[in-house]
Amino acid sequence: MEINNLYLVRELSILLMDENVRAMANYRQHGNTDTLTHCISVAVVAYRMACRWNLNVDLSSLIRGGLLHDYFLYDWHSEDRPRGHHGFMHPGIARKNAVRDFDANEIEQDIIHRHMWPMTVIPPRHLESYLVCLADKWCTLQEVFNPNHNQKTLEIFCAIGIIQTVPEAGGSIGYRA
Ligand SMILES: [Fe+2]
Ligand SMILES: [Fe+2]
Repeated sequence: MEINNLYLVRELSILLMDENVRAMANYRQHGNTDTLTHCISVAVVAYRMACRWNLNVDLSSLIRGGLLHDYFLYDWHSEDRPRGHHGFMHPGIARKNAVRDFDANEIEQDIIHRHMWPMTVIPPRHLESYLVCLADKWCTLQEVFNPNHNQKTLEIFCAIGIIQTVPEAGGSIGYRA
């Protein structure tokens, strides 16, 4: 199945217009990557995997679930975060937020709730969730060891005005929603 970047960007843009989704840019995820950038990357990688491997999946739910998989809306490094182990708690919090704000469907909820598998023991029920699970781990590794891996994706979203560049310390360029 051919990668349709226009479709991908359209699906993402609908959610990226929402100020709560954009607020994920205020929270640090891994390394220097903010949560919004991480979530965009995961959605893009999961979509590309589905196309490349010709998988029969619900592409809209895959992209939306990918973008919302870490929609927990707090800085998990901060002392104010909800009590309990972040790794185990945040999928449930993100799922609740996604249902409240975007009426997440059953596949999207499964993607969000099970994306930490196998750390959280109950496995996903849908192929879409396994793709996001895999994309999440891949992107996390990249964010820790290869900080520029998001560059191309960020440039595309910058070009269409979804996010903006901001100058950062040391002369480098950052991105903000
Ligand atoms: Fe997560
Ligand atoms: Fe994640």
